[in-house]
Amino acid sequence: MESILTRENEILKNNELIKIEKEYDEFEIIMLIYQKALNSIVEKFTNLKRVLNEHYNYEVITNITSRIKSPESIAGKMKKKKIEVNYENMIQNINDIAGVRIVCNYKEDVYKIRNIIANQKDIKILKEKDYIKKVKKSGYSAYHVIIEVPVKIKEETIHIKVEIQIRTALMDFWASTEHKVKYKPKKKLSNIDSFKLYIYAKIINIINDKMFKIYKKQNTNIKDITIKTN
Ligand code: GTP
Ligand code: MG
Repeated sequence: MESILTRENEILKNNELIKIEKEYDEFEIIMLIYQKALNSIVEKFTNLKRVLNEHYNYEVITNITSRIKSPESIAGKMKKKKIEVNYENMIQNINDIAGVRIVCNYKEDVYKIRNIIANQKDIKILKEKDYIKKVKKSGYSAYHVIIEVPVKIKEETIHIKVEIQIRTALMDFWASTEHKVKYKPKKKLSNIDSFKLYIYAKIINIINDKMFKIYKKQNTNIKDITIKTN
């Protein structure tokens, strides 16, 4: 990575490495490389969304969002993890600098999407966490995959980590509210409200499964497809 980052007067813009007037600092260049990795994943899943939705005749993937972690969050996370703040440590230890969230309807869709990720030739899975099978203490549920994607910069290919969170819409609703009131804020949420959130996560989970059962009863003849594109 070093050689790419220290080249003078070159920057990634609109996915291309071009000559520039302005001096970008090392951090900005690293972030642009992460952005390029993120763009390639979003593009891939936007295409897959279309293919899947046509085949299954319903929205398997309902939403795709992405974000690059802010410098403040990156530094904060490194401090929390007691890691010395430098670029090398950041690249090695922070897995969610580039993050994609894929939202679907049912748990079955989550695993479909997970398998599609595993079948992509250019994606390498580094780590997986199944918080659907093993729900977090908070009640948080989702499937997390840390992947490595190739990013081409001139003749060189480097591998960049991207975190993909796959959730059902109901899990996403719960997590986004919980994130606002408990996960992120400095102010501690009361035990009673934490407990309520945990119970609501359980209820949401039951509703999700029950809705799926009704859906499945009415739609028994849809065959799964294997997608192995790049
Ligand atoms: P982080 O260091 O926070 O990234 O956690 P981790 O390295 O143990 O990874 P994990 O897979 O547990 O969490 C990664 C991301 O999942 C977080 O940045 C959140 O976006 C989300 N997440 C994990 N746990 C919770 C939770 O209890 N509530 C909410 N709302 N989101 C969570
Ligand atoms: Mg995170």
